[in-house]
Amino acid sequence: MTDSIKLSIYRRDPDLDTAPRYQTYEIQPEPGQTVLMALYHILDNVDKSIAFRASCRSAVCGSCGMHINGQNRLACETQLAPLGNEILIEPLPHLPVLKDLVVDMTAFWDKYEKVRPYLIAMKNPPEKERLQSPAQRKRIDEFIDCILCACCHSTCTLDAWSNDYLGPAALAKAYRFVADTRDEGGVERLKIVASEEGVFRCHTIFNCTEECPKKISPTFAIQEMKKKVLVAKFSGKM
Ligand code: SF4
Ligand code: F3S
Repeated sequence: MTDSIKLSIYRRDPDLDTAPRYQTYEIQPEPGQTVLMALYHILDNVDKSIAFRASCRSAVCGSCGMHINGQNRLACETQLAPLGNEILIEPLPHLPVLKDLVVDMTAFWDKYEKVRPYLIAMKNPPEKERLQSPAQRKRIDEFIDCILCACCHSTCTLDAWSNDYLGPAALAKAYRFVADTRDEGGVERLKIVASEEGVFRCHTIFNCTEECPKKISPTFAIQEMKKKVLVAKFSGKM
């Protein structure tokens, strides 16, 4: 029989608890079991009071980002087996805790909205569709994969402590449109990322790139936009 595993889970209900505590649950792991499956097992069979966010269970919706054994990960794709016999599960760091593993994402979404995260099309719409070659599309493939899980947002120390810095998730999303040949946001969007809240605040810490579960590099996006801003400034477009 497989050894049991101890899951130490961060608990805090702001209405009841004055301070956070850790509650340990012992489970018998099954082959292929993920952290999310273990959390559902506890919720269904052991403790109905535990709170966490999840939806798609397939690393697409970005809901189940949490801090697992010291790293931001998606609970749905993180297998128990490589994590050892004692696993620490905490909410994403630096974000206000609403309850247990559920964090308040308001600051994250506020920053996201600021970069105008949608295709800006000024000219008349084409009859059928806005065409893009496979090579043009390939340039934005990586950034289209962002699932808005906030793992990068929560691990960037600048982003976490400053309401003013747009942060890696919003900036990676901005780059997704800046580099999209169909987008006509051009200089207007560059002005947003060139502001005091934008790309020049990044200290190239790289935490965001290391902890992105989709292997996206917000650091690369930020550096590319710094170059684009400088080119636009020196060519008199901004
Ligand atoms: Fe999550 Fe990566 Fe998108 Fe950041 S860039 S929100 S870590 S998927
Ligand atoms: Fe933060 Fe990533 Fe820059 S961690 S400082 S956004 S490289």
